[in-house]
Amino acid sequence: MKDSVVDRRARFLEVLGIRTEWVPKAGVGTVLAGGSGEAAEVAERDQLPELPERSALSEVQAVALDREPAFEAGPAEVRPPAVVAPAREPVPEVVHALLPQRAADIAAMDWDALEANVAGCTACGLCETRTQTVFGVGDRAAEWMLVGEAPGQNEDLQGEPFVGQAGKLLDNMLGALNLARGRNVFIANVLKCRPPENRDPAPNEVEQCEPYLRRQIALVRPKVIVVLGRFAAQSLLRTTTPIGKLRGTVHEYEGIPVVVTYHPAYLLRTLTDKARAWEDLCLAREVHDRAGAQA
Ligand code: URA
Repeated sequence: MKDSVVDRRARFLEVLGIRTEWVPKAGVGTVLAGGSGEAAEVAERDQLPELPERSALSEVQAVALDREPAFEAGPAEVRPPAVVAPAREPVPEVVHALLPQRAADIAAMDWDALEANVAGCTACGLCETRTQTVFGVGDRAAEWMLVGEAPGQNEDLQGEPFVGQAGKLLDNMLGALNLARGRNVFIANVLKCRPPENRDPAPNEVEQCEPYLRRQIALVRPKVIVVLGRFAAQSLLRTTTPIGKLRGTVHEYEGIPVVVTYHPAYLLRTLTDKARAWEDLCLAREVHDRAGAQA
């Protein structure tokens, strides 16, 4: 039977942990992708380290929490809230001069070459601290592409994006839209290597890595790109506009529509923005379906 929008909304709100008075109770738990709603939600929350209320944080601290790794550190370790990228390192002239050639080389690669190139990449200092690169995962002919920020600790160890708590939430969000990791979805990050201590990616790291994501997008050629979180959105769209202002409108990247939403790690703890994430995904669905109709 085809899902109604109301059913999908109910499932989505439940996997996101929206209060039950917003959710029709009957039947909802049985169709969740990641197990029944409240139990799964509580289990998920219980495994997270306690963090300060967002309202008690400075803006810089709050923005720093909009990243998954704070939730990936394990209960004993709460990430210091205001870890920021080092000031822009001076990029040697010779590296700058080589960038267009590097970008051109990468832009001509097929999947195998691209994957091998990422695996052996030494273009920035992150190659010295990573366990392995995290290329991306999923259906290489997907109509949906999701773009996150950078691998966290678990991703660095397992070599796959979004495998921690936020990844479980992401999978549930996809399930609520009748999508699944690897089935009509490709998931990638702006950076392919983990920034040490879960700090923000530095500008030169983004600059070196950008051609990889660009090529992945060109090869997948999705109908819609959903960008997860402030950092990924600002990097992909080359803007400093805050995420609150980027949401709700359809942007474009190389002719492909882009919808911005919150990072799942942020959503794990910010009730008020969970309903907004649903609106974002509804917008993405609409954009996708419209693109399908035109194809
Ligand atoms: N956060 C991200 O943005 N990407 C990952 O792969 C994991 C955590």
